[in-house]
Amino acid sequence: MKILITGGAGFIGSHTILEILEHTDWTPISLDSFINSEPRTFDRIKDITGTEVKNYALDLRNLEDCRQVFEENEFAGILHFAALKAVGESVQKPLLYYQNNIQGLLNLIDLQMEYGVPHHIYSSSCTVYGSAKELPVSESTPSGQAESPYGWTKVMSEEILKDIALSSESLNVLALRYFNPVGAHSSGKLGELPKGVPNNLVPYITQTAVGVREKLTIHGDDYETRDGTCLRDYIHVTDIASAHLAAMKHLLEGKQRAPFDFINLGSGIGVTVKEAVDAFIKVNQVHLNYAIGPRRSGDVAAIYADNTKALSVLGWKPIRDLDEMMRSAWKWQQELGRQSL
Ligand code: NAD
Ligand code: UD1
Repeated sequence: MKILITGGAGFIGSHTILEILEHTDWTPISLDSFINSEPRTFDRIKDITGTEVKNYALDLRNLEDCRQVFEENEFAGILHFAALKAVGESVQKPLLYYQNNIQGLLNLIDLQMEYGVPHHIYSSSCTVYGSAKELPVSESTPSGQAESPYGWTKVMSEEILKDIALSSESLNVLALRYFNPVGAHSSGKLGELPKGVPNNLVPYITQTAVGVREKLTIHGDDYETRDGTCLRDYIHVTDIASAHLAAMKHLLEGKQRAPFDFINLGSGIGVTVKEAVDAFIKVNQVHLNYAIGPRRSGDVAAIYADNTKALSVLGWKPIRDLDEMMRSAWKWQQELGRQSL
C-alpha cells in the first residue's frame, strides 16, 4: 500500500517516513522540491532503516509536473507536510507563502480528486488559535485567527479542505494541529536542519551549544507567565510522527465520522522558554551562552494543548518527555557538528 508524503525530506515528514518504515508495511513515496531541505535526508533514512525511499524532486506549485507522481503510483492516502513555515519570512514575503502553501495545496487536492485518492492528513498548527483567552486550548476553542501570513495559510488551508471534503462524496480530511514539534530520532542520525539562521527555539539552542551561533537570545522575560518568558507546548517529533500513523489508520479503517475533522497534537504540558533552556543544560550537561532580549513581535504569551481528543479519537498519546526531546536534539546536533544549511 503506497502512501504519498509531501515534504518527505523535511523535519516532520522524514520522521514520519521512519515511523512508517519501522512500524507498518506501507510504502512511503515522497514528493519534495528541497526548497527547505536536502537530498541527504534520504541517505540518512537508508542508514537507519536500510530502505531507499523514492522521492520526486518536484514543486507542488506546478500541477502538471506533479501529475507524473499520480500517473506512476496508486496511493491509498496522502500525508501533506509540504509548506513553507518561517513566520517572520512570511511577513516579508506573503506572496511566496500564499503561492507555495495555498497554490501547492490546491494543486495537490486537484490531483488527489482526479486520481481518486480518498484520504488526506493535513499539517496544521496551533497558530490557528491565535492568542487564545483560555488555556489549555481544545478543539472547541475558537480558531480562525492568525498573526502572520504563514498562520493565515494554515487557517485558509483548513477552510479550503473543509469545503472540498464536505462537497465531495469520497474525500476524507483530517487536519492535525501541531503545537511545537522538537527533538530528533533516537539514533541521533536524523533531526531538524533548518536552512540559514534558525527561527525556532530548539535548533537555536543546539546550534549555540555547538558553537555555530554565538548566543541564544530569550525573546522577552516580561510576559505574564510563571517566570516571565513565553510558554509553549513542546512535543517530540517522533510522537508527532506516530500520531500520523494512527491518523492514517483511522481514515483507512473508515472510522472518521465526518468528511472533515481536526485534532490537536500537543503534549498537554506548558513549558516556558527559560525552563526549556534549563532542561537542555541539565540533561546534556553542556554550557549554553544566553541572554534576555526584547520581545519578538507576533509571539503569543502562552499556549498549550488540551490533547484529550487525540487520545479518545485516535488512541494516541505522547510518550516522550522534555528531557528526551532535549537529549535527542543534542545527540543530533553532535552528529551534525557545526554543519548548517
Ligand atoms: P520543513 O520545512 O522541515 O519540511 C517541509 C518540507 O516541504 C521541506 O522539505 C520542503 O523542501 C518541502 N516543500 C515546501 N514547499 C514545497 C513545495 N511547494 N513543493 C514540494 N516540496 C515543498 O517543515 P516541517 O517542520 O517538517 O513542517 C511540516 C509541516 O508541518 C508544514 O506544513 C508546517 O507548516 C507544519 N507545522 C510545522 C510546525 C513546526 O514547528 N515544525 C508546527 C506546526 C505546523
Ligand atoms: C511558531 C508558530 C507555529 C509555527 C512554528 C513553525 C506561532 C504562535 N507559532 O511557533 O505556528 O508552526 O513557529 O516555525 O506563530 N524563542 C526565543 N529565542 C529564539 C527562538 C525562540 O526566545 O531564538 C522563543 C520564542 O519567543 C517563543 C518560543 O521560544 O516564545 C518558541 O519559539 P519557536 O520555536 O519559534 O516556536 P513558536 O513561535 O511557538
